[in-house]
Amino acid sequence: MRSKTMSVSTNPISDLPKLPGPKGLPVLGVSIRFVRDSLEFLRSMSREFGDLVRIPVITGTRILVNHPDYIQQVLVMQAHKFHKSKLSKEATERLLGQGLLISEGDFWRRQRRLAQPAFHKHRINEYSSAMLDCAQAQIRNWREGETRDVAQEMMGLTLEAAVRTLFGTTLPGEAQHVGRAIAFLMRHSLSRARHPIHFPASWPTPRNLRANREHEFLDSLVYRIISERKAHPDSNHRNDLLSLLMGAMDQDGSQMTPKQLRDETMTLFIAGHETTAITLAWTWYLLAQHPAVESRLEEELRNVLAGRVPSVADLPRLPYLHAVISEVLRLYPPAYVLARVAIAPFQIGEHDFPAGETLLLSQWVMHRDPRYYDDPDTFRPERWLDGLADRLPPGSYFPFGDGPRRCIGQGFALLESALVIATIAQRFRFRLVPNRNAVPEPLVTLRPKHGIWMTVHSA
Ligand code: HEM
Repeated sequence: MRSKTMSVSTNPISDLPKLPGPKGLPVLGVSIRFVRDSLEFLRSMSREFGDLVRIPVITGTRILVNHPDYIQQVLVMQAHKFHKSKLSKEATERLLGQGLLISEGDFWRRQRRLAQPAFHKHRINEYSSAMLDCAQAQIRNWREGETRDVAQEMMGLTLEAAVRTLFGTTLPGEAQHVGRAIAFLMRHSLSRARHPIHFPASWPTPRNLRANREHEFLDSLVYRIISERKAHPDSNHRNDLLSLLMGAMDQDGSQMTPKQLRDETMTLFIAGHETTAITLAWTWYLLAQHPAVESRLEEELRNVLAGRVPSVADLPRLPYLHAVISEVLRLYPPAYVLARVAIAPFQIGEHDFPAGETLLLSQWVMHRDPRYYDDPDTFRPERWLDGLADRLPPGSYFPFGDGPRRCIGQGFALLESALVIATIAQRFRFRLVPNRNAVPEPLVTLRPKHGIWMTVHSA
């Protein structure tokens, strides 16, 4: 098959490589199923149609890529032929601007180079005491038998940790409003991006008005953090990421504009707490459903820590804790699907594709694929204890993405998750409030839809 370079809008569907996919179903029906229950829909597409599936939607077609080798082709080997898709950009652009998560090309490369040193292992380890302080502060007022939304609690915890570690300050009294604002904006922007018919953002509908208010609130908060830092001349000697970005700005003469600084700050601020909070929330949910796992984790923590506060040095001696985190990220990957659009012709398997194709790579689907995971829907951290990570083909487990766009905060997230779980699980266990099951809601990330309401008990 010959490859051609065309843009999205000029690719007639009949010219695209033929792939299996849902036929006979009206496009509208497919689109509705996609939006209504995208997790089950994506899985059913992979079950029914295999490794490459062409899914017709109202705005064109999407290719769902379901084989580890193909996923590696897109994320690693041919990464330069792809950009983040318009869908993910549209959903987040007003919030994240041209921050690392969605910028492209030379601009992205420069920003990534600039930010990378702040995420080196030794630097991240320095953040551990702030992470531990935040964990301890969060649980200080928890009492036996009370009911809490652990999703909300974890969001508050990681938000404080992100602010302290990345920007060297605190947000007394504002954390809850920030959490609510981000939750609303994620839902609002994604529903606009997914539904082709919606009111323009400039129309004064109640939801648009609230979105404007929340954007203004977050913008003013971030600009305030930046300007407070600028007001203190010693700030460039501090250890946090904001200092680093501001310092680099001074050195190369081409100063980052306040808007660029705002975009990077907001990106790390949001990417740095939302996903980790979700991981922690699903951890408490899964542990509560699996008391044997919970007991084994508590036993490991007792043996190694004997009730004391964990430190970075303890972590290599906590293999079961790491297995629990790997398993949570397998079953409830906060980033459950990555989208890419081809900016050049590319090849997958024996197919040649033109530029303009939109691809979906789903962690939710691959992480539950029975070809790679026994009993894939079962929470079983033990599976990671016998070298599974080394046996898995690359591309079958990618909670942090892969290739040049791999998550810059992976080490940060894993450290924070381990320290927080080790701190809290030594003191408390949780039980789901009856009739309040947790449901994953696939928005920009895989949040629990109505929170996770649990009763708190001493461990
Ligand atoms: C469990 C927690 C986390 C998960 C599951 C996660 C997942 C991901 C994934 C899958 C990507 C790649 C997206 C793509 O290829 O389209 C990504 C990128 C990114 N993540 Fe994370 N992330 C987590 C925590 C963090 C933290 C703690 C930070 C910052 C402190 C962070 C900052 C970023 C940034 C800036 C990018 C864009 C990197 C680039 O394109 O250069 N993430 N993350």
